[in-house]
Formats: sequence, structure tokens, C-alpha cells
Amino acid sequence: MSVRRLAVPEFIEQRRSIRSFRDEPVDRGVLDTLIEAACLAPAPHHSRPWRFVVIDTDSAKLALADGMGARWQADLEADGVSAERIGELVAASHVKITGAPALVLACLTWDGLDRYPDESRQRAEWGMALLSLGASVENLMLSAASAGLASCWVAAPIFCPEAARDALGLAAEWLPHALVLVGHPDPAYVARERPPVPLEALRLNL
Ligand SMILES: Cc1cc2nc3c(=O)[nH]c(=O)nc-3n(C[C@H](O)[C@H](O)[C@H](O)COP(=O)(O)O)c2cc1C
Repeated sequence: MSVRRLAVPEFIEQRRSIRSFRDEPVDRGVLDTLIEAACLAPAPHHSRPWRFVVIDTDSAKLALADGMGARWQADLEADGVSAERIGELVAASHVKITGAPALVLACLTWDGLDRYPDESRQRAEWGMALLSLGASVENLMLSAASAGLASCWVAAPIFCPEAARDALGLAAEWLPHALVLVGHPDPAYVARERPPVPLEALRLNL
């Protein structure tokens, strides 16, 4: 039988996905600090293949929500989803994006990554960069939580990187893959109950 000697660090337990915010802007200097923390994430070959776009103006939020929404609508139509359901889904996503005080859009580039002549290794290289982007986003959200800010990762850009990029007029090589909502937490928001970690099912000791 193993004996547990350590507790999970409190700052990791305390980060929750919070989707409701006070109507108050987030200081850009604070956002810069969060992005600095993101950029301390591990990455392949000592690269920094990430770019972070801070979006806190109404016009930019709207452009992003409209651009990604149009693409999602087309995908749902192709899936045969009813017009009514599409309207609900796209509208809810639009409100989520335009309603957040600030957004940080995490993009990937090929900067610093290796290139391979074959598709398989090229895909693995991009996969490594994507893993490191996830680590950087976690750093950002942990830092937000430790600064008393709320955050929530939104998946949408990974399904439509080009649409997100073009909606904001970003450089062609900046490919958005993760969106983080950031703001001061709505005190009334109750995070969904977090089930205990079923360690026995998720971990194998060999
Ligand atoms: C890659 C990724 C994509 C996610 N996308 C969304 C999303 O589109 N919308 C949303 O509300 N939450 C999204 N989440 C947040 C998860 O729902 C959340 O992390 C999960 O329910 C666990 O809750 P917690 O973060 O409070 O521990 C995403 C999380 C990850 C890691």
C-alpha cells in the first residue's frame, strides 16, 4: 500500500473554469503578466512557437465571435443540425465571447520548430507544439487564478484557426488554437462540482 506524502498544491486545486464575470475591465499590464507566465511553459527545442493576442475592445470581440460563428454555423448546417438548434448554439457562443471583459487568443506558429519532409513527423512536430501551447494556457490560467481573476478556456478556435485568424486580420502564420476568457469573477457564479480524481482508474503503476 502506498502512503500519500504530498497534497496537490492549493493553487492548482483553486483554478476553476469560471464563465461569468463582473462588468469591469482587466488591466492590460496584468494581462501582460499572465502572458509572461504563459511564455515560461516548456516547449520543444527551446522554441516559443506561441503568439498571444489580447482582445479587449468591443469591435475585436465582435469580429472574432462573428468570424468563428459563421464558420460554426456552416459546419452545423453540413452536419444536418436543425436551424433552430444552430441558432441557439451560435448565439450562446457569441454571447460567451463578446461578454467576457478580455480574451487572450493563443496562436501557434512554425517559428523555432523543425521541418520534416514526411507528413508523419511533420504532424508529430506540430503536435508537440500544440502540447506546449496547452502548457502555456495552463500557466496563464493558473496565474490568473492566483491574481484573483477568473478564466475559462474556449475550444472554438481549434476548429477554425483560419477563420479566427482572418476575422482579426492576423498574420498568415499565426494560427489560433485556444481562446481564454479572462475577467474579474462574478461572485454569484458557482463552478460545477468537481468529482474526486479516480486515481486507480487513471493511473497505472508498473
Ligand atoms: C482544450 C479545452 C477546451 C475547452 N473548451 C471549453 C469551451 O469551449 N467552453 C467552456 O465553457 N469550457 C471549455 N473548457 C473548460 C472545461 O469545460 C473545464 O476545464 C472542465 O469542465 C473542468 O473544469 P475546471 O476547469 O473548473 O476544473 C475547455 C477546456 C479545455 C482544456
